[in-house]
Amino acid sequence: MNIPALGMGTWGMGGKYERDESNIEQSISILKQGLALGIRLIDTAELYGEGLTEEIVGQAIKGHNREDIFLITKVWKTNLRHDAVLAAAEKSLKRLQTDYIDLYLIHWPNEAAPLLETMRALEELVSNKKVRHIGVSNFSVPIMEEAQSYLSKTTLAANQIEYSLLERSAEKEIIPFCKENNIKVIAHRPLAKGKLALEQKEILNTLSKKYQKTPIQIALNWLISQDIVVIPKTANAGHLKEICGAVGWRLEETDTGLLKSDFV
Ligand SMILES: NC(=O)c1ccc[n+]([C@@H]2O[C@H](COP(=O)([O-])OP(=O)(O)OC[C@H]3O[C@@H](n4cnc5c(N)ncnc54)[C@H](OP(=O)(O)O)[C@@H]3O)[C@@H](O)[C@H]2O)c1
Repeated sequence: MNIPALGMGTWGMGGKYERDESNIEQSISILKQGLALGIRLIDTAELYGEGLTEEIVGQAIKGHNREDIFLITKVWKTNLRHDAVLAAAEKSLKRLQTDYIDLYLIHWPNEAAPLLETMRALEELVSNKKVRHIGVSNFSVPIMEEAQSYLSKTTLAANQIEYSLLERSAEKEIIPFCKENNIKVIAHRPLAKGKLALEQKEILNTLSKKYQKTPIQIALNWLISQDIVVIPKTANAGHLKEICGAVGWRLEETDTGLLKSDFV
């Protein structure tokens, strides 16, 4: 799977759990600015804004060559029965105004829905060319293993999990398992919902000076340097430019290690 290292998150654009039309224009504009700055990955979900967020993404990518853009969307945990997955994907495609999704994720596991059915439906979507790659989000190792065991024509391409300098629980089992099994790790909340911007750690300032990058760029590059995809979200044009400066260079391995140990 050829996925860009940096993408744009969309939580809150067009609402969170409920549809909110107050920021539609601002959200389309910021996504368009991101595309103009060279970002080629957008992360969204059917849950966000009750579908309005996907509509916003659909508007933002209009006029771009579809093949140049990598779209992630997610099926919500109440839609994981076989037919519900297929129906949810159709609705997402319509709202995104596209005929395929690059990466379609199960947003959250749900024990009430048989995982075998979900995985069969996802493989059907791949066979029908509605989806290019399938994956999961917020899955532990045992349920990743279970999901993988039901696949016969494809493999799990990604697990999208919470991971940042401030939230490290995935390091113990999930990330090593993903690396061993060629499952791409996508870090959601890579800025710890903005908390990283307020961090006063000496190591961030030291590396900031060494690399001539801002602490936010260091914090994002810490993930990118470990081959982890990041999808920070911003509604602010200045912050977006700063985020773009997190790619195109790499922290030295000793410095990723220093950050790791200083943030424990
Ligand atoms: N799969 C899942 O279950 C799941 C869960 C959570 C999130 N996600 C995805 O991951 C994306 C990112 O997560 P998130 O939005 O929760 O959190 P995040 O990206 O870690 O943080 C977003 C916050 O950081 C601030 N920020 C961004 N750039 C900044 C900068 N350069 N300087 C200072 N502050 C900055 C933003 O404020 P400003 O607007 O002021 O810049 C915003 O408040 C989501 O949008 C969503 O697409 C997925």
